[in-house]
Amino acid sequence: GLTSAAALARRPAATGAELRSAVPLPPPFQVPLPIPAVLKPAGTSGGADRYAITQREASAEILPGVTTPLWTYDGTFPGPTIESRRGRPVIVSHRNELPVPTVVHLHGGRTPAASDGYPTDLVLPPGWQDHSMHTGHGMHDPRAVVTELTRDYTFPLDQRPALLWYHDHRMDFTAPAIWRGLAGLHLVRDDAEEALGLPAGPRELPLMIADRAFAADGGFAYPALDPTLRVRPGVREPYLAGVLGDVILVNGAPWPVHEADAARYRLRILNASNARHYELEAVTDDGRRLDLVQIGADQGLLAAPVTHKLLPIAPAERYDVVVDFSGVPIGGLVRVVNRAGSGRTRDVLAFRVVRKAADDSRVPGTLSADLPAWRRSEAVRVRDFSFRAGRMRGDHGWVIGGLPFDPARADVTTRLGDVEVWRLIADVHHPVHLHLAGFRVLSRRGGPPLAHDAGLKDTVSLRPGEAVEIITRFDGYRGRYLFHCHNAEHEDMGMMANLEII
Ligand code: C2O
Ligand code: CU
Repeated sequence: GLTSAAALARRPAATGAELRSAVPLPPPFQVPLPIPAVLKPAGTSGGADRYAITQREASAEILPGVTTPLWTYDGTFPGPTIESRRGRPVIVSHRNELPVPTVVHLHGGRTPAASDGYPTDLVLPPGWQDHSMHTGHGMHDPRAVVTELTRDYTFPLDQRPALLWYHDHRMDFTAPAIWRGLAGLHLVRDDAEEALGLPAGPRELPLMIADRAFAADGGFAYPALDPTLRVRPGVREPYLAGVLGDVILVNGAPWPVHEADAARYRLRILNASNARHYELEAVTDDGRRLDLVQIGADQGLLAAPVTHKLLPIAPAERYDVVVDFSGVPIGGLVRVVNRAGSGRTRDVLAFRVVRKAADDSRVPGTLSADLPAWRRSEAVRVRDFSFRAGRMRGDHGWVIGGLPFDPARADVTTRLGDVEVWRLIADVHHPVHLHLAGFRVLSRRGGPPLAHDAGLKDTVSLRPGEAVEIITRFDGYRGRYLFHCHNAEHEDMGMMANLEII
């Protein structure tokens, strides 16, 4: 059982109680791995692709024989995948038919501030335009609130090819909205990456990993009593530390299995969980751990591959990994296991190697030459931020530099083009995400970065008590952006700050 919020906040693992599903759960590796459908543009005009997405309620049979109501982008969870070319703008028109206001953020996108999904830039459902948006809190700057019924989000996508994802970002309500299904993938590609000869087509698989728990009525269980409207005093406790489920979904299916060729696969892994971090390994029937050859990070390809046996992945992080099944006997099962889990959350998904196949893919020793390499000496300033438990509106919450999120306060003001070093320090586990600007990890615990810190990132996992230095250049656009913890419950409970680029 849960004790007090304060006791939860002091827990070193920073994970709340794992919710227990109230319906029977299937054995692992029975359901085929679904691949989210790629959305077709509604049109192209002026060199841009236009898409239309309706946010609406829908339901799906996620567990066999169980109907789960969802909040969706276009009727599915995950939402449809958008595939784009580097530098070719995309306009996504979002219409909101859900019972609540929403906000769309393209995570990892280099996006002008007006389309970045600021937490008070709402897309209203029909009938909401006359309502007062923020009844519960009374602290919002009404000038900061931009509301629309349908919203066109413009993404220039002038950025390195990468696996991005889009998800809800409404102030105070991001975690329950993502939990109910508001998340989808957005891939950016370019010619240079395609010329490398990496595994492609059916051998490139997006894997959106997210834990959930199921209530007796088949819906996703979530501790908030009234997630549709407001946070009631006293209901923060059960999810203060972050909500965990006992079912691992990959692309919306529980512990799925994929029939694979005995060949190389490129796995585009996203941890879309609210609060769960994983430590992944690929294990054969005879207990062999396959190499996880990392070729990319959150913001695209590494300079050169890095080989892991165990890959930690925190909420919102992406890892681009090649796994070679050619040495696995036909009929063999490769289980992707979560070493950080226990019981049912130890399994993630599996590959059944079903046939021999020709494989002309390769993993070149040099993957990309355009990785930014900012030097410490270029930094015009160094900033310190602590991520820890604190008070938010008189209740337990999470704070950055001692302060909970306030949309009316500029926390960081920086100049377009400046290079900065940020020193981040955490009490418990906090995956820290920066909008707009990809960054490099400079150091961890006073030493060099770890192997999986390689490449250009937009989310860095701070483990309990850790200090991590990152370096970035704030270029692209002026305006108001965010940085925050991507434990979605921490984010909703104050662990977010404004970044003003002038
Ligand atoms: Cu993935 Cu500010 O978010
Ligand atoms: Cu956090």
